[in-house]
Amino acid sequence: MAPKLQRRRTTIAAAALLVLLLSLVVVVATAGARTQATSTELEVFSWWTGGGEAAGLEKVIAIWKKEHPSVTFKNAAVAGGAGTNAKAVLAQRLAAKDPPDSFQGHAGAELQDYIKAGQLEQIDFVYRQFGLKKVMPKQLIQQITYQGHLYSVPVNIHRANVLWFNPSVLRKAGIKGAPKTVSQFIAALAKAKDAGVIPLALGEQWTQKHLFETVLLGTVGTARYNALWRGGGNWSSPAVMNAINNYKTILGYTNTDAPSLTWQDASKLVVDGKAAFNIMGDWANGYFTELNKKANVDYGWAAAPGTGGVYQWLSDSFTLPKGAPHRDVAVQWLKLLGSRRAQDAFNPVKGSIPARQDANPRLYNTYLKWALRQWKTDKLAGSLTHGVVANNAWNTEIDTALGLFLQSKDATKFQAGLAAAAKKNA
Ligand code: GAL
Repeated sequence: MAPKLQRRRTTIAAAALLVLLLSLVVVVATAGARTQATSTELEVFSWWTGGGEAAGLEKVIAIWKKEHPSVTFKNAAVAGGAGTNAKAVLAQRLAAKDPPDSFQGHAGAELQDYIKAGQLEQIDFVYRQFGLKKVMPKQLIQQITYQGHLYSVPVNIHRANVLWFNPSVLRKAGIKGAPKTVSQFIAALAKAKDAGVIPLALGEQWTQKHLFETVLLGTVGTARYNALWRGGGNWSSPAVMNAINNYKTILGYTNTDAPSLTWQDASKLVVDGKAAFNIMGDWANGYFTELNKKANVDYGWAAAPGTGGVYQWLSDSFTLPKGAPHRDVAVQWLKLLGSRRAQDAFNPVKGSIPARQDANPRLYNTYLKWALRQWKTDKLAGSLTHGVVANNAWNTEIDTALGLFLQSKDATKFQAGLAAAAKKNA
């Protein structure tokens, strides 16, 4: 072949190759752009549908909508306090590989369930990108870290061990101030009974477990309580038996329709002047605020009896599930939740203190200002009912033992049930 013709053919072949390569680049680039395009929906799963709770979530949703007008917010909240129903629905969805884009989970043992089951992405990059590690309390970071990685963004810190009371009901019953110890509490309950009001308002079973964990802490003390969850504690001890007996006595002063009441129904009995006391987490403060009730007038509070100086805490956090259908916007959601503006909008309404340590205290009401101060100085104990100290399996076994006890009132069997559950799970 003549060298000139040969050169021309080579040039044509090279040009063709170049065209081919260029079109490949275009195809790949377009595909890339397509996967990077912002999703148009975000599905968030929680159990915040009721009084005080939905309003808190709505505050964050409002910010989200303003900042992401083209993304439809799908609120997949499932009703039922403490996530009793929601957690079951979530488990089914996760098993069916149908996760929402982000779901609520308690910091601590509960979160670890999801991590160990391989259902969550680690989100170290979110913390790095948005500088979250610096602004969250160390002990909280520990609770959401597993094998060196972070798995959720906490929005708040709730306090479980709060005794709510109606100041004028207490006055009328001749009860001088909030009882500080369990035995003072029992004496006050007796006085309230004599005065013809419900001494202690109680609701459905999870609120009864909530009451139990505060009585346990108030009876055995912080060090023993904390040890019970770490494998070193003695569930068969006389101290635990004392706690069960105290609990049994206290249950004798509660409303008989408890199983059919939500936590809101039970807390409301206090601000309505029908009950003297209620032991509930500080989401009750969010609810009272929503009901326009006045602190120190319509309701007062103190540490649950025997738990002064201790913050029995829990934290709601949000996750990035593996296979989240709209992962890109889910990351933006987590970024928003970690921000000061979202935490300062959410928490004053939800009735919790912010997880971030740089929040603006002026935005928080009288109760929450108290809680902010307590958080700084109190010793810590984790909540059972709200997933800090025991995972879902352990909680379920305690639920079973408690359910039997509520029927039989057999303290010995209850203690044996608790000990057996600890042996299996601690
Ligand atoms: C807790 C949750 C709180 C509050 C409460 C009552 O488990 O952490 O945010 O919602 O249940 O529903």
